[in-house]
Amino acid sequence: MLVAPYDRHVKKTKRRTGKGVEAAVPRELEPSFTIDSPEVRVYVGDCRGIVPRLPEAGKVDLIFADPPFNWNRAYDQWDDSMPREDYLRFTEEWLDGCVGALADHGSMWVNIPDDTAAEIVVHLKRRGLQMVNWCIWHYRFGQNTESRFISSHVHALYFAKDVGKRTWNPGAILEPSDRATTYFDPRTQNKKEGKAGMRVPMDVWYGPYWGRIQGNNRERRANHDNQLPEAYLERVIRACSNEGDLVMDPFLGSGTTGVIAHALKRRFIGVEFSDQNAKSAFERIKKGPVRLGASLGQSTAIHPARKLGERSAFLKGIDKLEFDFAPR
Ligand SMILES: C[S@@+](CC[C@H](N)C(=O)[O-])C[C@H]1O[C@@H](n2cnc3c(N)ncnc32)[C@H](O)[C@@H]1O
Repeated sequence: MLVAPYDRHVKKTKRRTGKGVEAAVPRELEPSFTIDSPEVRVYVGDCRGIVPRLPEAGKVDLIFADPPFNWNRAYDQWDDSMPREDYLRFTEEWLDGCVGALADHGSMWVNIPDDTAAEIVVHLKRRGLQMVNWCIWHYRFGQNTESRFISSHVHALYFAKDVGKRTWNPGAILEPSDRATTYFDPRTQNKKEGKAGMRVPMDVWYGPYWGRIQGNNRERRANHDNQLPEAYLERVIRACSNEGDLVMDPFLGSGTTGVIAHALKRRFIGVEFSDQNAKSAFERIKKGPVRLGASLGQSTAIHPARKLGERSAFLKGIDKLEFDFAPR
């Protein structure tokens, strides 16, 4: 029974009552919330104790992990102010659990800020995972400061156990290319690979519906100021899994991964330390997403379209482009 090391970062107030310690690693590995089809299971407890004991060890198709950043955030139950050494040990422990859960063809994403991105990359490479992309999630509403440049990005690290075997669905996430929307370059109409006028998104992610989920955002869940946008999880899940696949999130939070995975007919396992968060995430999964499909097919061009000349007729062709999905 893996109890001793895992109760260290239960908030002290909870530890005194003993309540948090019990929540850290449940004695029986029973999900607290379930849906039959497509299957959803939400476990309450410490993912380091739960993930290695899941019956699906070695069978998870896609893992998305957005861990606590150790930024002293007031989580419901988790202590987000560990000594650095403890945080690094915690990070390696949960990463190892996820690597063990991942199928040989599986993909794993980690959402992490500058502080610990390098350590995670090195650790996952040492564990034999292969890096596919080091993406950046860029948001335009960073915390204001005058003492340094304003932070406006988090790393989205994309790994696979075997790059050649992984699930990769570029057709499901295409966006209009700058050649089509901004430069009206006819070569995009005749390209040999992919769809005319469209491209796989670049590795810096931003655009409509990609901002931080502020208090007045339609997607916002109460008590979750670090909720990820639905657009982010929709891109990851559509690109890296198929209907019926098993998706797992070891840090469920407000439930963004679960709500999108379920809506896209993937099976889903979520783990969350706080029972209150887990309950709320499960309600959200049942209710469904707010903006599914809204971010698909949106141009992310940042320069104004060039002046229209004789090639302007090309613009009309853009209306006829076909998608593998139905953008709304
Ligand atoms: C950054 S938030 C996840 C946010 C989520 N991606 C979303 O969009 O809402 C991290 C979550 O992990 C939970 N957590 C922290 N430590 C955990 C652990 N060891 N096992 C499971 N969950 C944990 C926290 O309670 C918090 O809800």
